[in-house]
Amino acid sequence: MELISRPRRLRTTPGLRKMVRETRVDASSLVYPMFVMDGTGKTDEIKALPGQYRYTVDMVDAKIEEMLRAGVNSIMLFGIPDHKDEIGSQAYAEDGIIQRAVRYIKEKYPEMYVIADVCLCEYTSHGHCGLICECGGHHDVDNDSTLELLSKTAVSQALAGADMVAPSDMMDGRVGAIREALDANGLTNTPIMSYAVKYASSFYGPFREAAGSAPSFGDRRSYQMDYHNRREGVKEALLDVEEGADIIMVKPATAYLDVIREVYETTDVPVATYSVSGEYAMVKAAAAQGWIDEKSIMCEMAVAAFRAGASIYETYYAKELAECIKEGRIG
Ligand code: PBG
Repeated sequence: MELISRPRRLRTTPGLRKMVRETRVDASSLVYPMFVMDGTGKTDEIKALPGQYRYTVDMVDAKIEEMLRAGVNSIMLFGIPDHKDEIGSQAYAEDGIIQRAVRYIKEKYPEMYVIADVCLCEYTSHGHCGLICECGGHHDVDNDSTLELLSKTAVSQALAGADMVAPSDMMDGRVGAIREALDANGLTNTPIMSYAVKYASSFYGPFREAAGSAPSFGDRRSYQMDYHNRREGVKEALLDVEEGADIIMVKPATAYLDVIREVYETTDVPVATYSVSGEYAMVKAAAAQGWIDEKSIMCEMAVAAFRAGASIYETYYAKELAECIKEGRIG
């Protein structure tokens, strides 16, 4: 048999395989999620996220320096306040945990790009992402009254020095409200990365333990998306772009590669994806049993997200991935 096309021809040497790679990965695409908490002198390991910690502001230095050394120049900050209340007031307090952490990090490490998560769930006593109302005899999260608090949160984070804000609450219209509020405060250059396509996912389990943000009643399905839907993801993405989102995030990552691709093809903004806590925990757990090779799996998951269309990849494995890129394992 005469074979004219032999795909194996381009797989003969490592150099050639690398030359013809369709997907390129660079550490500048990585974002590392970090938890900061009130108090001093403490780092707590998060049980369901082995190797990940909650830090008080005075304890973040070693981690930030480790990230910068590895070539990870972006972090996303999540705040865990001591005081939680019905209206999440610590989310937008001038001396709130995020505001203090951002001020500290930006002053000491101006080269670190700091993204602030904008949401109320870590700050509310009920653990929901917005204000609770009694609508039609049952409790629900009230959309429009929440927008004002989210806008206040984003503005106070940006005034504290956050380079970018990332609303993850899934209220309708929050990108437009936040854009308007930022602009009114002269923060026209602060980009918004919208978690536009965020599914109601059990992959967030370990995060909720980390942030103490599990809802005390009900669940998030009246605001986060139903994972049966893909076209609805496009709708969410287009709405947010129209409202002024600079970057669209799809979340989680690995189980949603089709959605990443769809959003990539239907919008004209960079697409980010977040490989969430449950994804990390699953890899860690299987690796601890010796059932999978942690590094190879982590690399394969990351490249899959980039191949699907993401240009920003948020992951608890940011440092390890940056090292794999340096070693030439992927890239
Ligand atoms: C909400 C928020 C969540 C995550 C990021 N932002 C949790 C949720 O929606 O319940 C999850 C991230 C992860 O699982 O790593 N502010």
